[in-house]
Amino acid sequence: MNTSKVDVLLGLQWGDEGKGKVVDVLTPRYDAVARFQGGPNAGHTLEFDGRKVVLRSIPSGVFQGNVNVIGNGVVLDPVLFTAEARELIDAGTPLHERLRISRKAHLIMPTHRLLDAAGEKAMGAGKIGTTGKGIGPTYTDKISRHGLRVGDIEAPDFAERYTAARDRHLRQLERMGATPDAALLADLESKWMAAIDELRRFTLVDSEHYINGLLRQGKQVLAEGAQGTLLDIDFGSYPFVTSSNTVAAGACTGLGVAPGRIGRVYGIFKAYCTRVGSGPFPTELHDATGAEMRDRGHEYGAVTGRERRCGWIDLVALRYAVMINGVTHLIMMKSDVLDTFDTIRACTEYEIGGTRTPDFPYSIDDAAAVRPVYTELPGWRTDLTAITSPDEFPQAFRDYIAFIERELGVPVAIVSVGPDRAQTIEL
Ligand code: GDP
Ligand code: IMO
Ligand code: MG
Repeated sequence: MNTSKVDVLLGLQWGDEGKGKVVDVLTPRYDAVARFQGGPNAGHTLEFDGRKVVLRSIPSGVFQGNVNVIGNGVVLDPVLFTAEARELIDAGTPLHERLRISRKAHLIMPTHRLLDAAGEKAMGAGKIGTTGKGIGPTYTDKISRHGLRVGDIEAPDFAERYTAARDRHLRQLERMGATPDAALLADLESKWMAAIDELRRFTLVDSEHYINGLLRQGKQVLAEGAQGTLLDIDFGSYPFVTSSNTVAAGACTGLGVAPGRIGRVYGIFKAYCTRVGSGPFPTELHDATGAEMRDRGHEYGAVTGRERRCGWIDLVALRYAVMINGVTHLIMMKSDVLDTFDTIRACTEYEIGGTRTPDFPYSIDDAAAVRPVYTELPGWRTDLTAITSPDEFPQAFRDYIAFIERELGVPVAIVSVGPDRAQTIEL
């Protein structure tokens, strides 16, 4: 019996949990790494050998010899992708050999980005605070059956299909009062078409066949999530979410693997919590403690440079994320950021309308109505960044991990104590 599995690693909070770092750490245990959703709204940071790289569309398993796949569930911007690819190739990564791109992935067009910007502008103060990468409009076209796919670039009438899609977008932009300047659009288009030519030199595959073929050969695959569970289109804090299924089930639809093929589900979270963009965040701190987290954790967006909002760990939201994803292994990141805190708070319940609940409710939109109930734990006040073994953990840190494991009912398998590949401890 062939027991090859696809293990999934995904974010349990609002993104930026440190997925890129841990995928890179786990890569040597897998034959292939595959992205299954999202696009260049992601920014996955890796630090190793004194080098720091931020990946947007390329999977984080690309530095250690494995095959990497951009799956059908991903939306790909040819301009951003080829720029990212060139940087890696210039730095010595043999990307053409290692990367396969799904023909069924959807293409982000210049007009998708314009529609993203126009949509945000039209919403004014109620805007989502997107990354501006055209993610929502591209997935909208996918679902409304108007999208252009990577495989279309091999079709003889690709230029006509592109023009038809663009003209449809221009009519939408006109209705929004956001008709682009003709010279600007022409410039964006010529760059986009040049990037399409560069994209043709990569290996395009029918990725569902490719990945199932790997599994039939007994190979192990790691699926790399982007964004986080609370940004999921179905289960996140809608409408302040992204436009894809970021949860474990997304790996099935985003790669074409059957549910029974899913093995471990690694759920990754920060020892505290952050969010970038608009939307509710019950444990957010607007005080000096939040600022200390931001400074110590360098909480500024990897893609947009925006300040990340910071707050205490939210176990109500994490419990929900563990349930939706069927998390089998927890991974706690950025523990070192809390090294200086005397007391650490963890939200275990919400109080809504005078009633306490451990369950994540339908809506957390009304910040005044959702009051987090905290348990206080003593801080460890120890520099964790040089620790290499769990034997060296201070007792208060062990207690914090044990508390989270009890609350979530899943063991913590890996703890991260710094951004470098080496600052990773398995329990
Ligand atoms: P991703 O989107 O989930 O891959 O995460 P990002 O790369 O957007 O954000 C995580 C940030 O935290 C990056 O700057 C990482 O280099 C950094 N980082 C990852 N793990 C740790 C850690 O354990 N401690 C500290 N201090 N930084 C970390
Ligand atoms: P990684 O993979 C954090 C947020 C945006 C915005 C909302 C919708 O690095 O964890 P979009 O551009 O997707 O339409 O924006 O989702 N967002 C992220 N926040 N990390 C990300 O990716 C994000 N990708 C999107 O800030 O609130
Ligand atoms: Mg990120």
